[in-house]
Amino acid sequence: VKPIRIILKQTFAITLFACISSNSIAFDYWQSLPDKPIIPKNNPQDAKKILLGKKIFFDKRISKNKNTSCNDCHNLTSGGDDNGKLTKNPSNPRQRSAPSLWNVAYMSTYYWDSRAKSLEQQFHMHLFNDGILGKYSETELIQKISDLPGYDQLFAETFNDKKINSTNISKALANFIRTLIVADSRADQYIKGNKLALNEKEERGYFAFQEQGCLSCHFGVNFAGPAPGPALKMGDGFYELFPTIRGTEYEDEKYGFLIDKGRFHFTKEVDHKLMWRVPSLRNIADSSPYFHNGKIESLHDAVRIMNRVQFNYPINEETIDDIVAFLKTLSGQYPKINQPNYE
Ligand code: HEC
Ligand code: HEC
Repeated sequence: VKPIRIILKQTFAITLFACISSNSIAFDYWQSLPDKPIIPKNNPQDAKKILLGKKIFFDKRISKNKNTSCNDCHNLTSGGDDNGKLTKNPSNPRQRSAPSLWNVAYMSTYYWDSRAKSLEQQFHMHLFNDGILGKYSETELIQKISDLPGYDQLFAETFNDKKINSTNISKALANFIRTLIVADSRADQYIKGNKLALNEKEERGYFAFQEQGCLSCHFGVNFAGPAPGPALKMGDGFYELFPTIRGTEYEDEKYGFLIDKGRFHFTKEVDHKLMWRVPSLRNIADSSPYFHNGKIESLHDAVRIMNRVQFNYPINEETIDDIVAFLKTLSGQYPKINQPNYE
């Protein structure tokens, strides 16, 4: 099936291409999910590594207080996010919502502000810098894991250097996260050519999503901008201003969209104030609340706000509903995940 190309509404063409280094590459805006994400050469997928990563992911004993696992904030049985609990991180007054990890392997950068260039690098930051599992030094974390029964042997069997260290922990976690794939959503079937996969309302939403301009940022395999490939190298971020239009009713404290300055906190470049990675819209119906600060509960409100603060084209409630109906078709069947047993 020939991919549909859209003509970008002019205002956005400028910001859009400013963020991508290459000059004029034609994108296929509508893309279905490829079978596999890009796997880095220095961390091939391997059954033992995946199992080890899974074991670490669900293991509460690894955290400093022994009762927080990765799954507590990225719940793999309910959309993969934190369902509204924000990370209470005393060293970080800017509280951010925990993103869903399903299909996250298809992103080119990690974190809301794009500050990590790979999953492996993201885990280095996550484990030590954010106090996610409690403030840890690398030595302390390694000690903690070594003290738990079984891990010594698992690391020895899995890695050539047999070591428990942050590189190997990150590699194992990244291997596991790259297996978290929800494929073949109804939207994927439709994009591949099965025009019966969407009902009338959803199809209207599909076209409204395009017409309204949403697709100018949320396009490609993850509806998150260019996929790693000719247009964007793995590790290059695709970020945009949010909110783009200033002075709307969405600037007051209730929404708090101006508190966290996004990418600026990481790069300190003035141009990066309020710049955010364009997030994936896959499985979006299952990962409320929305936005970096998790302030918005309903997808309907999120779409209305997005339309108002990103381009402010007129939109009516029915069209918002249609777009929401379409966005719901971006969810698919979640593979069942059995939690490991810890003796
Ligand atoms: C206390 C809650 C919490 C825990 C525990 C936690 N995370 Fe996170 N995680 C977050 C938050 C919040 C973010 C987003 C932070 C940001 O963007 O600045 C995040 C981001 C991520 C991302 C990037 C997702 C994306 O879309 O870019 C991945 C991957 C991830 N976490 C995996 C893990 C793994 C693996 C563990 C266990 C080692 C873990 N997390 C433990 C809260 C948590
Ligand atoms: C100029 C680029 C741009 C356009 C156009 C755009 N978005 Fe977004 N979108 C973003 C960015 C950046 C964010 C992240 C905002 C944040 O929370 O910091 C986002 C966030 C979202 C979210 C919340 C995602 C989450 O995980 O919480 C939804 C839903 C969404 N957009 C839908 C839409 C819809 C529907 C449209 C069209 C009406 C649209 N967007 C147009 C860039 C854009």
